[in-house]
Amino acid sequence: MKLAFRNMTMVPRVLYGTGAFDQLTSILEPKRLNPRAPFIFLVDDVFTQYHEFVQRIPIGYEDEIIFVSTLEEPTTNQVDELVQQIILKYKEMPSGIVGIGGGSVMDLTKAVSLLLTNHGNASDYQGWDLIQNSGIFSVGIPTISGTGAEVSRTAVLKGPDIKLGINSDFTTFDQVVLDPDLTADVSKNQWFFTGMDCFIHCVESLNGTFLNAFSQAHGEKAMALCQNVFLKSALSELEKREQLMMASWLGGVSIANSQVGVAHALSYGLSFVKGIKHGLGNCIVIEHLDAYYPEGTQLFRKMRDYQQIDIPKGICENLSEDEYRQMTRIALGLSPLWENALGKNWQSQVNEKVVRGLYEKM
Ligand SMILES: [Fe+2]
Repeated sequence: MKLAFRNMTMVPRVLYGTGAFDQLTSILEPKRLNPRAPFIFLVDDVFTQYHEFVQRIPIGYEDEIIFVSTLEEPTTNQVDELVQQIILKYKEMPSGIVGIGGGSVMDLTKAVSLLLTNHGNASDYQGWDLIQNSGIFSVGIPTISGTGAEVSRTAVLKGPDIKLGINSDFTTFDQVVLDPDLTADVSKNQWFFTGMDCFIHCVESLNGTFLNAFSQAHGEKAMALCQNVFLKSALSELEKREQLMMASWLGGVSIANSQVGVAHALSYGLSFVKGIKHGLGNCIVIEHLDAYYPEGTQLFRKMRDYQQIDIPKGICENLSEDEYRQMTRIALGLSPLWENALGKNWQSQVNEKVVRGLYEKM
């Protein structure tokens, strides 16, 4: 029998609500294996400046907070180093790992959880369904909305040769805490760029050949919420935070059941070669995708102008031939994304010349 449909995993437990973060103790304590098996908290190092918030992280026993830099996107090396650090320090496998931060911290947390129970290096598992064992108990607590990393079955990492996710049914978090208050201090640019990641997930999912009623239902609602948040001034700040948090979640579920597309393929290349962060990279790319997503591109410009955000230009002006080649290789290597965007025969429409032509405009 041909297996046509993926039997998807979902995040099994979700706690939602303003102030929900303070219920974390009641989630973690029943999961504590023993007093010597710590909870590891991976926390975006931006929070070193927010002492009051750090005080609210419920550490006890041998638990440890590890602050991680998110200036650059997470790498496979970073995952391997964190895993080594944890293994060398503790005699027992941790009770669990809790990620507090944006998409980078979410991805890092999922990857460390998996690499604690799967042999080898993180780069061995970049791809689809290569993970063999479930990771340790993992909790995702997003502090920026948009990436959908809190709900996705991937942990996107930059490796030595490629930027690619660890995609598997084992990758999803065991528990997510959605507290809209935690996103209150995000800067306007970051709020916009990361929010546009969600918007672009919806554009790519809703216009893809992999679309089905399940991903459409989630994608349409997420798209409507994005438009509320970025085009309506009547919403309160709290309403915007609540709605973008839900848009991020629904957009993530939508792509988990379909796929992203051209913007993400090109953005991965930009990120690998130029180190441009994911949300910003997507914004730079979608400005030039009228041929693929005419309505989405128009709507993006409307939101950009309404929010008075400047998108950098001339990013690829001084790229070497080698860098162009690398970027093109990364982008074209993501065949599921192109297939979703353009269908099974995507290679008849897109090649190195087409991709390079798009990069040259950015
Ligand atoms: Fe994305």
